[in-house]
Amino acid sequence: MRRDEHELLSRTGPGTPMGNLLRRYWIPALLSRELEADGAPVRVRLLSENLIGFRDSNGRVGLLGEHCSHRGASLYYGKNMNGGLSCWYHGWKYDVDGKCLDQPNEPPQTRFCDRIQQKAYPCVDRNGVIWTYMGPPDKKPDFPEFEWNLVPESHVYASKRYQDCHWTQGMEGDLDSSHLNFLHGTETINASPSHGKYESGKWMADDPNPKIEVVQVPGGILHSARRDADPANHYWRIGEWMLPCFTTIPGFPGDAPFGGHAWVPSDDDKTWCFAFSWHPVRPLKDTELKNMLTGWGMHSLLTPGTFTAAHNKSNGYAPADYPPVKQPWQRIKIFQDQDTAITESMGARFDRTRESLGSTDGLIMHTRRRLMATARALEEGKDPPTDKRNYRMRPLSCLLPRDTPDWAKAVADTIDARPETYQLSV
Ligand code: FES
Ligand SMILES: [Fe+2]
Repeated sequence: MRRDEHELLSRTGPGTPMGNLLRRYWIPALLSRELEADGAPVRVRLLSENLIGFRDSNGRVGLLGEHCSHRGASLYYGKNMNGGLSCWYHGWKYDVDGKCLDQPNEPPQTRFCDRIQQKAYPCVDRNGVIWTYMGPPDKKPDFPEFEWNLVPESHVYASKRYQDCHWTQGMEGDLDSSHLNFLHGTETINASPSHGKYESGKWMADDPNPKIEVVQVPGGILHSARRDADPANHYWRIGEWMLPCFTTIPGFPGDAPFGGHAWVPSDDDKTWCFAFSWHPVRPLKDTELKNMLTGWGMHSLLTPGTFTAAHNKSNGYAPADYPPVKQPWQRIKIFQDQDTAITESMGARFDRTRESLGSTDGLIMHTRRRLMATARALEEGKDPPTDKRNYRMRPLSCLLPRDTPDWAKAVADTIDARPETYQLSV
């Protein structure tokens, strides 16, 4: 990668080409459970902007610029009551749209209040996640129809976790089927509670060199990794990368919930990783929820009261009381901890001019190219694809006969996220 490409891909602050692209999409900002009506305001940094989330007396969610329009006091200390957030310093009061409702320290006849607009981004609260749109108001797209946004709330579990590195470093782990064999390995795969009765762990272990194929689709890239399974079949792991920061993860064959990620830049060195588990046609089972809450599958065990993983850099990504081992990697036993450890180990923002990409990195190259091309096109005035229907895609982990002529055609109906297309995959 050239130096200028590395810079283009890396920077997401206001006014940068990649920042402008990300701002044309709805992105997760907070979990719904972080905000209660008339409860404490919450600080959140997104795309290098410091923001304050709050839920007003009527349950409406607001996401305001952190610093008060008067003289910049932080609204984190604001009083959230009576239908708005009042700055603690001189009482200027804002509603969820950033409209100034009251200026108790100004004479009312000046109507100065009417000329004040606090920075505010629109929010949608859906299935446990608060989404926001930080771009130009006249370009706001329809809310994206991810399957996890469409099914009943009982079919979805969402969590978030802080990650100490650039958003693409985390995201590219989802786009790299080859690491399953090495970073996770058969032992971790077979220990995963969602691994069903099929031999997918063995199929992955026996074929460390999956054949990667990609298909460009309107909202992103459909991708597959093909491995040998048995004399009659290949094992296919099929997923999607969707503009700009969304992935779906093929799980294991069977009836397990599907998984997806949103890799939201906090800034250019830190990331909010939102994880979604959902089932298209049934509520999540208690056993599945229990596994999710204890750090299996897509989700991490968190340090209580925080969104930092309990197993993190400071403790070697493992429980503090883990018995002594000879080498650091031997302590890290849980799927998600392994992914976090290895992507954070690259450093906050690895210099991509120093990489050496090989054949199994093809999907990563395709997504980077697509991101950069879409950001450059936007600079030239071409709107990015934001159709809400682009997001109606689900992942798949399945066997297909070896003589299947076109995998993408063979699975087109099954990955089209509508309840009637759901089928148990084998
Ligand atoms: S700084 Fe907020 S009201 Fe004065
Ligand atoms: Fe992984």
